[in-house]
Amino acid sequence: MEPSQSKYIKVEESSIHGTGVFARINIPKGKKVIEYIGEKITKKESEKRSVSLIEKNQGSLTDGAVYIFELNKKHDIDGNINENTARFINHSCNPNCEPDIIKNRIWLLSTRKIKKGEELSYNYGFDLESYEDHICRCGSKKCIGFITSEENWPKLKKLVAKKKKKEKKLKNKSKASEKTKI
Ligand SMILES: C[S@@+](CC[C@H](N)C(=O)[O-])C[C@H]1O[C@@H](n2cnc3c(N)ncnc32)[C@H](O)[C@@H]1O
Ligand SMILES: [Zn+2]
Repeated sequence: MEPSQSKYIKVEESSIHGTGVFARINIPKGKKVIEYIGEKITKKESEKRSVSLIEKNQGSLTDGAVYIFELNKKHDIDGNINENTARFINHSCNPNCEPDIIKNRIWLLSTRKIKKGEELSYNYGFDLESYEDHICRCGSKKCIGFITSEENWPKLKKLVAKKKKKEKKLKNKSKASEKTKI
């Protein structure tokens, strides 16, 4: 398989995480920026790979699992191959790209004008299960703190507030018990 190429991109070190993908030139809105290529696998194989990765990582989702993309009802694409340059695109809570399936191929499309030098990003769309394992460092003003799809944000805010309240209660309780010891 040939490495995925695009006149729009370059791969460089990212301030979000590790390696990232950046705009080589100004990119208009609505362009196919780069194809997300990989191994076409059945849902069964996809499940098997995800489970074995989770087992390896003692219960939580691993970096490897994030490379699997839904293609259609029968197949997924496992993008964890060297040729897939798009695998370096980081997540953002205020992304400039989104994945789209066009004629059975996965593309990252620009959702707005992207200036030369800007880092490319899309929302990874993770669910809320084990959200605490996926802290977001996208640095955008609207960062929600964890990597999850925007439709989950209202629920996530509630979960975070509930956790903070619980922690505060525990802290006050331990302070009170310290005082009674004195
Ligand atoms: C598909 S890779 C992206 C490329 C990655 N930067 C690299 O160097 O391999 C996905 C992993 O990058 C990291 N990552 C991507 N976006 C992130 C973000 N907004 N905040 C924190 N980590 C992020 C996470 O570790 C995630 O599991
Ligand atoms: Zn973020």
